[in-house]
Amino acid sequence: RQIQDIRGSLLGWYGLNRRELPWRLAEDHIEKGAYRIWVSEVMLQQTRVQTVIHYFKRWISKWPTLRHLSQASLDEVNEMWAGLGYYRRARYLLEGAKMIVAEGGEFPRTVSSLRKVPGIGEYTAGAIASIAFKEVVPVVDGNVVRVIARLKAISANPKDSQTVKRFWELAAQLVDPFEPGDFNQGLMELGATICTPTSPNCSSCPVSDHCRALSISRNDSSVLVTNY
Ligand code: ADE
Repeated sequence: RQIQDIRGSLLGWYGLNRRELPWRLAEDHIEKGAYRIWVSEVMLQQTRVQTVIHYFKRWISKWPTLRHLSQASLDEVNEMWAGLGYYRRARYLLEGAKMIVAEGGEFPRTVSSLRKVPGIGEYTAGAIASIAFKEVVPVVDGNVVRVIARLKAISANPKDSQTVKRFWELAAQLVDPFEPGDFNQGLMELGATICTPTSPNCSSCPVSDHCRALSISRNDSSVLVTNY
């Protein structure tokens, strides 16, 4: 089956090429892992990986766990966030930490329970649930929209909300049922490093055999992979 081949190839590629980012380090304690993934995913929504690494390390050395963060003040959190922009996100992290700790301190493990935390939307919920807790749910960001659009040769405007909804459905069909977190991170990483907006490196792509945009562009030189 094509879909299983895509999953296997992407997971194999990600296993060999994943970057050792500080929030990806093996965690002894699963809820500590979820907290770190939450912080990193919120930071990554507006800022490049290279910049986030520095902010992430500072944040974690000041507040190593959810409980530490829940005792912080808004001023401290804003000060730590300075330079990242969208301060509302920092405030939501603080409010979310307070809420989870007030309700017993157990980190929510599913998309539906994560969505009840202030500031956690579909993207962040999917990332935490799949990466930290292996819930089989998709994650769709701009990179994922582009990768799937090319795989399936769908011309789509990723800024259109109907389009994004459709890609959540497509990503849900694609996500690997056994390694959803690595699969989702692999798709994002593929979009960030290989299947880039203007000069995709198709010869290094683990799923190029399954890419409809690439096959169309080979047969018709007036079509480019970047048309998708
Ligand atoms: N961009 C945002 N979150 C990411 C993740 N978890 N892996 C790769 N790229 C990302």
